[in-house]
Amino acid sequence: MHNAAFAALGLNWRYLAFEARPENLRAAIEGARVMGFMGLNLTVPHKLLALDIVDALDVSAKVWGAVNTIRFEGRSTNGDWLPLRLLEKDPPVEIRSVGFNTDADGLANSLREDLKMELRGKRVLLLGAGGAGRSAALKLATEGVSELFLVNRTLSKALEIQTEIQKNFPSVRAELDYPKSDVDLILNSTSLGLKPDDALPLDEKAFPFRPTHAVYDMIYRPAETALLKAAKAAGGKTANGLGMLLHQGAKAFEIWTGKTAPLDVMRRALEENIYGH
Ligand code: ATR
Repeated sequence: MHNAAFAALGLNWRYLAFEARPENLRAAIEGARVMGFMGLNLTVPHKLLALDIVDALDVSAKVWGAVNTIRFEGRSTNGDWLPLRLLEKDPPVEIRSVGFNTDADGLANSLREDLKMELRGKRVLLLGAGGAGRSAALKLATEGVSELFLVNRTLSKALEIQTEIQKNFPSVRAELDYPKSDVDLILNSTSLGLKPDDALPLDEKAFPFRPTHAVYDMIYRPAETALLKAAKAAGGKTANGLGMLLHQGAKAFEIWTGKTAPLDVMRRALEENIYGH
């Protein structure tokens, strides 16, 4: 999606994938810095490790406790730190890495765009309490949902999130069970659904699907998980995690280039590469 976006905007940039072992992450970031990279994306398991490696953290990485985007910045002649793209004529001697996180915004933007959902005042059933679940819960709380129902195989992890929400967002009601009545959104952050024979991430007996429930699955491959299939069969609105992938990428693109991301171009490139159409 990034290469398609660079081409659409006429930028002579390239986005490349590299594999690095976690124990070499520091060296990999250092290598990119000295070779004049504009920035990097990081994925599992590097997102948490990078917190202690980058030279500075943007507020987004501090809030979400993870780094998925790095921008390299150079010290300009008057002492300010600027993105490297603004210093091409006068290459800086000193370069630093700055960590950002675009994942949480990616989720909120995708819910807005793909489910047409404004989160303020909504009741949400969140399935899963791992890294992605925690970020989602906190993002939903910052967006002003009224109630969060947290369901996870390991109760202690859901309890930790509940405690964090109660402490930082006292106006959001966070409960540790299936809701007794309808919700506006069911959000899957577990890995259940990645494999074809996975169980559903929710207990249909405890909480049956209704047409009024919108269902979002962070999984995007397969395009339709068993959860989305069941929700659709019940008449509900559904969306998979492709939009989240798109929007976290679009935000990273803007952090690096300073230009508005061409969303349609990026979405088409993603769909072609992931689904082949
Ligand atoms: P991520 O960073 O993608 O969130 P994670 O932190 O490993 O990855 O979290 C995976 C989530 O999927 C967790 O909520 C996990 O439940 P536990 O906290 O009980 O481990 C959930 N999950 C994974 N496999 C599962 C399974 N077989 N049944 C139920 N939940 C499962």
